[in-house]
Amino acid sequence: MEPLLHRNREAIARMFSAIAPKYDLLNRLLSGFSDVRWRKFAVEWLPVSARTVVDIGTGTGDFAFAVLDRCNEAKVIGIDLSAQMLKLAQRKAVNQSKKDSCSWLIADGLNLPLRDGFADAVVCAFVIRNFEDLTKGLREMHRVLKPDGVALILEFCQPKPSWWWTPIGLFVRYFVPMAGRLLSDPVAYFYLVASIKTFLPAESIAEKLRAVGFRKVTWTPLTFGVTTLFLAVK
Ligand SMILES: C[S@@+](CC[C@H](N)C(=O)[O-])C[C@H]1O[C@@H](n2cnc3c(N)ncnc32)[C@H](O)[C@@H]1O
Repeated sequence: MEPLLHRNREAIARMFSAIAPKYDLLNRLLSGFSDVRWRKFAVEWLPVSARTVVDIGTGTGDFAFAVLDRCNEAKVIGIDLSAQMLKLAQRKAVNQSKKDSCSWLIADGLNLPLRDGFADAVVCAFVIRNFEDLTKGLREMHRVLKPDGVALILEFCQPKPSWWWTPIGLFVRYFVPMAGRLLSDPVAYFYLVASIKTFLPAESIAEKLRAVGFRKVTWTPLTFGVTTLFLAVK
């Protein structure tokens, strides 16, 4: 199977739209609910007073909802390329009685339709790995933030080669594509593994965040380095 690796915007949108119906199920199953814990842990770093928050690549909205659980006053704009993902996010917002606190926008994270200094915080989970131009995406996050605004990014960074031989590494390398093939879309879950292998290590991403102007950048590996949380302050 030839994994999609050119990170072209239209192809990425098509791929995520195809897996949208089973996206939450596979997330919970393959991470053993760690994805829920990672988002919950990440939002602890947001000021509770944050009022305007943008979730870039919101998917089915889970990061946006975690923000609302932490910041009572917040309004969240969830942005995504995939209309199918946003439809599910919208439905979940209604079911969770959060629909008045969120709005959904089909747009590109590399070209946000938001004015400079719009947001108190930007959150973005498992998206930057898919950006066609990472620097452009990080620059957009920086642009739409107010001074002192916070960006929270969760991502699967490229691990050290030895990590792939740990039990978790073997699980990701072999079990994840197999489960994807059986339960969802094989191409998307091959892509997941291939895109992690070919993405940047955490140090390089932190360096890029500094290069686009973030003045304080820290990062923390979570769950034995499966994922990494970046915290960057404008
Ligand atoms: C792996 S999902 C993550 C969804 C959600 N953030 C979460 O925590 O589950 C990646 C999402 O990012 C979206 N995406 C990828 N590239 C994007 C871009 N350039 N602009 C906006 N959304 C993008 C995809 O359509 C997909 O819904």
